[in-house]
Amino acid sequence: MSIRTLDDLLAEGVSGRRVLVRADLNVPLDKQTGDITDDGRIRAVLPTLGALVEAGAKVVVCSHLGRPKGAPDPQFSLSPVAGRLGELLGAPVHFATDTVGESARSTVAGLADGQVALLENLRFNAGETSKDEAERGAFADQLAAFGDAYVDDAFGAVHRKHASVFDVPARLPHVAGRLVLREVEVLSKLTGDPERPYVVVLGGSKVSDKLAVIEALLPTVDRLLIGGGMCFTFLKAQGLEVGTSLLEKDMVDTCRNLLERADGKILLPVDVVVADAFAPDAAHDTVRVDGIPSHRLGLDVGPETVAGFSAALSQAKTIFWNGPMGVFEMPAFAAGTRGIAEAITKADAFSVVGGGDSAAAVRALGLDESSFGHISTGGGASLEYLEGKTLPGIAALEN
Ligand code: 3PG
Ligand code: MG
Repeated sequence: MSIRTLDDLLAEGVSGRRVLVRADLNVPLDKQTGDITDDGRIRAVLPTLGALVEAGAKVVVCSHLGRPKGAPDPQFSLSPVAGRLGELLGAPVHFATDTVGESARSTVAGLADGQVALLENLRFNAGETSKDEAERGAFADQLAAFGDAYVDDAFGAVHRKHASVFDVPARLPHVAGRLVLREVEVLSKLTGDPERPYVVVLGGSKVSDKLAVIEALLPTVDRLLIGGGMCFTFLKAQGLEVGTSLLEKDMVDTCRNLLERADGKILLPVDVVVADAFAPDAAHDTVRVDGIPSHRLGLDVGPETVAGFSAALSQAKTIFWNGPMGVFEMPAFAAGTRGIAEAITKADAFSVVGGGDSAAAVRALGLDESSFGHISTGGGASLEYLEGKTLPGIAALEN
């Protein structure tokens, strides 16, 4: 892999140069208050930003947040992120209230050496995510005008063929930041020759998002443990009734086919916590998977499942985990995710947690981040990496 790195750029000297950094500052915000509920992604980019500040660069940071529709939308403003980033850096971050407009131009022009600016949400511009190359290119031209060099440290977005990820590096000298390097280094251990047994735990709500990675992982893994909302489509594929649980009907046949080809590698829940409603205070009970009442929905895996999954994890030498086991945001349905997370930390294995949600779960449940081998900042990105797909953001750095 012929990717130049931040250290290569620093060795050239960046003092007084404008360095455009693509970060993934897409952090979860509290729906009521707009407060940042997990700043993991902001902290993850500090090593790169700190090194550039130290070296006297004029640092121009850009990112997306959420999925605004190509026009300004205040609920997706990066303004709170600028505040938090400034606190963490210990120096104010100059926030531009647009992305490539008048505010951005004057903010960038006003930067002194070693200062940091953050541009407003990239996705306030249709050019960022456009499928049309010319439209993306035009936006990339405007962004590239803010930098003399480009650093990609947005691992969580490297699977997106977006202007700031894919087209800007074609226009500027480009390097990989510390976070991107570390992520690729760790994930390549999993696709290379992982120490065995290699156990993967998948959860989260959507089966359809995970099918490709299940398909790609089946030949490589020793055990695949499936929980979370997606397990109900698999249970249905086994002929069980799942009540009003999350179900992707059009995926049942695919799941059945996967189970048939899995050679017993796939482990599904044996018990689940079912509730009357999707609510924190809903009445709930633990039942066997063959006894899910028709009017109730499963919101977590049960204790026997946690015990079975934990036994498999305790044997593992390599673990990859993506996706919560239940609705961990509600305390009544957090035990499954907590139990699995604890089993991972206890295993004598190299463990990787992939994904915004699972990483946020680790922190929200108060677990010690350092007891995991690596906590990835990329959900979709780490899954697509494991699928063996070409990631546009990485490919762009290789050229
Ligand atoms: C993520 O949260 O997975 C990344 O920030 C990418 O966001 P996206 O899925 O909206 O492109
Ligand atoms: Mg995502």
